Amino acid sequence: MLILGIESSCDETAIALLKDGRQVLASKISSQIPRHAPFGGVVPEIAAREHLEAIHPLFNATLAEANITLADVDAIAVTQGPGLVGALLVGVSFAKGLALATNKPLIPVDHVHAHIHGALLGLPADVAATALPCLALVVSGGHTNLYLVETPLDFKLIAHTADDACGECLDKVGKLLGLPYPGGPWIEKIAARGNPDTVAMPRMVEKKSQMEFSYSGLKTHMAQLIARLPQPIPENQVADMCAAFQREAFQQIIRKLDIARKKFPHVRSIVIAGGVAANQAFRGMAEQTFNIPCYFPDLAYCSDNAAMIAALGWHSIRNRGPQEFMTSDWDVYARYPFEDHKFDIAEAHA
Ligand code: KG4
Ligand code: ZN
Repeated sequence: MLILGIESSCDETAIALLKDGRQVLASKISSQIPRHAPFGGVVPEIAAREHLEAIHPLFNATLAEANITLADVDAIAVTQGPGLVGALLVGVSFAKGLALATNKPLIPVDHVHAHIHGALLGLPADVAATALPCLALVVSGGHTNLYLVETPLDFKLIAHTADDACGECLDKVGKLLGLPYPGGPWIEKIAARGNPDTVAMPRMVEKKSQMEFSYSGLKTHMAQLIARLPQPIPENQVADMCAAFQREAFQQIIRKLDIARKKFPHVRSIVIAGGVAANQAFRGMAEQTFNIPCYFPDLAYCSDNAAMIAALGWHSIRNRGPQEFMTSDWDVYARYPFEDHKFDIAEAHA
């Protein structure tokens, strides 16, 4: 079965072709990062307009690269949300147009859940087949969500952030330090030269009963620390600050993962996905802490991409059948709510 994936939820337009759920025939991404960099963050109106310009040429280029015509495609999977509404509308409208014109199933996909399938895509098939049930963390610029995933379509949200996302915090602190956008990869690079033990950091949401993340306190701590120092801050001091800040940003996640791991001893692996999962120091911390495999996406499927959208779409259509996705009213938004409801970890164990 051949699925066309379409992603346009934030600042990357992406199109991919996926065969039989695992074989990526083509995966093309048009990143808007240079357009938003001068503003230090994503500007929604610019994002929507950039998607409009990029999507059709990218679609043609993806089909050409895989030597596929639209007639060969069995179904279309599109990011329905969450994301910027103007940006989402571009991808959803494009997908609806294709599906209507060709009478093909249209599968709405939750972007955050799809990140987890993006991480599984890069694994050898036999390893991916034994990864579930897993604890899956999606850690990006917009989310810090921890799920219990029992089967490929069953995502129980067990923790999320009470305020900022982890990547958002990295980017905001990067901005305070005068680093280019997005700050996450820069902080990683600079932190490698620093000593994390020389700068004290607050430990956020430390209580074991708290199954949530919080990053605004850490950000405020960094803002106050930076404001107190004479400018420009010497390079070696910036490196120490980055190292300490980054370590605590990730240690918070490791602490929560550890609690969840003990509550759900039946899980076979920990899957860590989303843009922040590209961080090598974070990968190392997770691998050292847990005695079950930790899986991270190939770098190609860490940031937003459409192969992960097609992968989750493939599971949906295989499970529910194509007829379920042959819509006649095209009211995809209204019919498929994508809000996650937090699963009560305490209740689950009562
Ligand atoms: O998943 P993603 O591409 O887009 C969202 O859906 O948000 O994640 C982007 C986030 C940004 O906050 C960026 O700073 C962070 O991922 N990021 C990193 C690294 N590469 C990207 N954070 C830490 N270390 C990295 N190497
Ligand atoms: Zn994402």
